[in-house]
Amino acid sequence: MLVCDCNEVTFDMIKAAVAKHGGNIDAIKDETSAGTVCECCLEEDCEKVDLALPLAVKKALEEL
Ligand code: FES
Repeated sequence: MLVCDCNEVTFDMIKAAVAKHGGNIDAIKDETSAGTVCECCLEEDCEKVDLALPLAVKKALEEL
């Protein structure tokens, strides 16, 4: 499941980062580079990705 198109970041990568950093979006961005190029995936309604970063973090927190 794609979370950031620019940097090809998947949900599994976000989940691993959330396991380390919790809901700290800045730390997750630093670790995965998600959301650091066009920033579309920082918006919940971004159409370039399957699951935008804020929603992916939320889902990961629920699953962990
Ligand atoms: S889609 Fe994530 S920075 Fe462009």
